[in-house]
Amino acid sequence: MITLKSDDEIELMRYANRVVAEVWELMKELAKPGVTTKYLDRKAEDFIKKRGCKPAFKGYYGYPATICASVNDQVVHGIPGNYSLKEGDILSVDVGTIYKGYYGDGAITIPIGKVKKIHQKLIDVTRNALNRGIEVARAGNRIGDISHAIQNYVEKNGFSVVRDFVGHGIGRELHEDPQVPNFGEPGRGEKLMKGMTIAIEPMVNEKGYGVKIERDGWTVVTKDGGYSAHFEHTILIKEDGAEILTRV
Ligand code: MF3
Ligand code: CO
Repeated sequence: MITLKSDDEIELMRYANRVVAEVWELMKELAKPGVTTKYLDRKAEDFIKKRGCKPAFKGYYGYPATICASVNDQVVHGIPGNYSLKEGDILSVDVGTIYKGYYGDGAITIPIGKVKKIHQKLIDVTRNALNRGIEVARAGNRIGDISHAIQNYVEKNGFSVVRDFVGHGIGRELHEDPQVPNFGEPGRGEKLMKGMTIAIEPMVNEKGYGVKIERDGWTVVTKDGGYSAHFEHTILIKEDGAEILTRV
């Protein structure tokens, strides 16, 4: 069931998602060679609590941390640990918050020091693909319009879109209807309506789109070892466009 949010609900979601974007800024400052992903996790959790929110991922189906920290060939859901970042890594940080019962969710990919040209392109294409999706997110259009805009842009640039994980509605739960795939046909799927809040989150692979789950039961990695990038915004559908809620 798709829920439309009232103005009061949207105000709470604006705050939860603003805090997500503030955590991104903190992560960009702190993510340097030599720093562990566990350290980033602790800093993110402290910050989220200081801003009056709760971490949304911790405890979600038993997930053990505040952020997901996915490095290089890790696609999403990397568990923070003792890994020390090194020059040339690309780090995806996914952040979830809860404020007064409403969720924020968003992700960015950060280059660590100087990275290979192809990996910088992967990051840029993924960020742009998300923005292409947001550009067609407005009342009257359909989910498939978003999916197609993302897939078309990614594949035109020589990369591939992960099929096994998708974006989602968001609000009083982290994952609500509808699903928002990053691949598909224009004109298909649910119609977008004013007051819908959705998280769009393209996961883009350098090589093939195949992924598998590591033995920890969480970490998603590419099958072929190619690198992967991930960007995610939570947005509000309006009559004539979308408002990005994950924003400072
Ligand atoms: N942004 C991710 C998602 O929407 C984060 C989920 S991580 C989890 O699925 F640990 F909470 F599962
Ligand atoms: Co999400």
